[in-house]
Amino acid sequence: METLILKIDPLGKIDVEIPAKVLKSGGLVAFPTETVYGLGANAFNSDAVQRIFKVKGRAQDNPLIVHVSSLEEMKMIAKVPENFENVIQKLTPGPITFVLKKRKEIPEIVTAGLETVGIRIPAHPVAQMLCKASGPIAAPSANLSGRPSPTDASAVIDDLYGKIECIIDSGRTPFGLESTIIDLSSDIPVVLRPGPITVEELKNIFGRIEIPDFIKASKEVENPKAPGMKYRHYAPEKPLYMFYEKDREKILKILEKENAVVIIPKEHSRFYPKNRIMILGEFEKPYSIAQNLFKILRDFDKTKFDVGFIEGFQESGILFSVMNRLKKAAKLWR
Ligand code: TXA
Ligand code: MG
Repeated sequence: METLILKIDPLGKIDVEIPAKVLKSGGLVAFPTETVYGLGANAFNSDAVQRIFKVKGRAQDNPLIVHVSSLEEMKMIAKVPENFENVIQKLTPGPITFVLKKRKEIPEIVTAGLETVGIRIPAHPVAQMLCKASGPIAAPSANLSGRPSPTDASAVIDDLYGKIECIIDSGRTPFGLESTIIDLSSDIPVVLRPGPITVEELKNIFGRIEIPDFIKASKEVENPKAPGMKYRHYAPEKPLYMFYEKDREKILKILEKENAVVIIPKEHSRFYPKNRIMILGEFEKPYSIAQNLFKILRDFDKTKFDVGFIEGFQESGILFSVMNRLKKAAKLWR
C-alpha cells in the first residue's frame, strides 16, 4: 500500500482535511499527540479498528484508548462520574487517559470486551483538530507491538510505512512518554500507568489514590488491570541492560572489553569515554529524559554497538514514569 506522508507544522496553519477524510472512510492515520504518535481509526468502525490490531501485531485482549476533542464528546461514549467531573475538566486537554464505564456506542473490539473504556483529550493542536474534524479516534501508540513508542514520524515510518494510508509528520512529540492512565470507574482512583502527570501530582489532585504494585515491578504480571502491562514492551532489538550509579566502575571495565555503549544523563558524561556515550537528557531538566527515552532506544539499535548499558534513576516525579518504561525495556544488570 502507498502511504501518504503529510507534513503539518503544529505551529502553522493546520489543515487536517485529508487525514480526516481517510479516517471517515475507514482508513488508518498515524498522528502526533503531545505524548507519542498514535495509530488512529474511526472508533465506531469495527473493521477499521480491527486493522489496527493486525497492522501492529497487537494482542486482541489489549484495549485501545479513544481520543476525543471535548468533555461533551467524552460523555457521549462513557459515563463521567459527577464527583470527578471538575478534576477531569482541570486535567484536560492533556497527557492523561481516564478509564470510565463505557456506553454501548463504543464497539467491543475497541475495549477488548471490557465494561470500561480509556478516553483521552489530547492537547496537541494537530490531534485536537483531527479529533474535531473526524470524531472519536481509537488509537494505540503507532509502533509495532513490543517496540518503543514513536516520538517522531521517522519512527512511525520505520514501523508502519506501506501498511497504513497516512502518516502525519509534525516533528517530535513534546513529552515523549505515553499518557498517565487513571481508572475512575470505581470509588477510589487507581493509577494504571504513570506518565507525564506524575503520581505525586495525582495524589495532590485526587487525594486518595491506589498505586498497584505492578506499575513499579519489572517482571511481567499475570493479571494486571491495564491489559497492556503484561506484554514485553519498548525493547530495542539489541541487548540492553539497566545499571545503577554504584556499579559505574564495573561498567567501565566492561567498556574496555566489549563493544558497548552507555546511555546516561548529560551530567554523568564526564565519567565515560567520549566515544562510548549516548546522552539521554539532563538531570537538571528531568522531562528531557522522558522526552528522549524512546528515541534513544531506537537510535541505539542503529548504532554500531553490540550492547547497551542504560543508567537507572531514583523513582520520583517524572523519573518514576521513566523507570516504569525502562524496567520493561531493559534487563537489570546483575
Ligand atoms: O499517550 C498515549 O496514551 C498514547 C497516545 C497515542 O494517546 N497511546 C497509547 O496507547 O499509549 P497504547 O495502546 O499503546 O497504550 C494504552 C494502554 C494499554 O496498556 C491498554 O491496556 C490500556 O491503555 N487500556 C486501554 N483501555 C483500557 C481500559 N478500558 N482499562 C484498562 N486499561 C486500558
Ligand atoms: Mg503502546
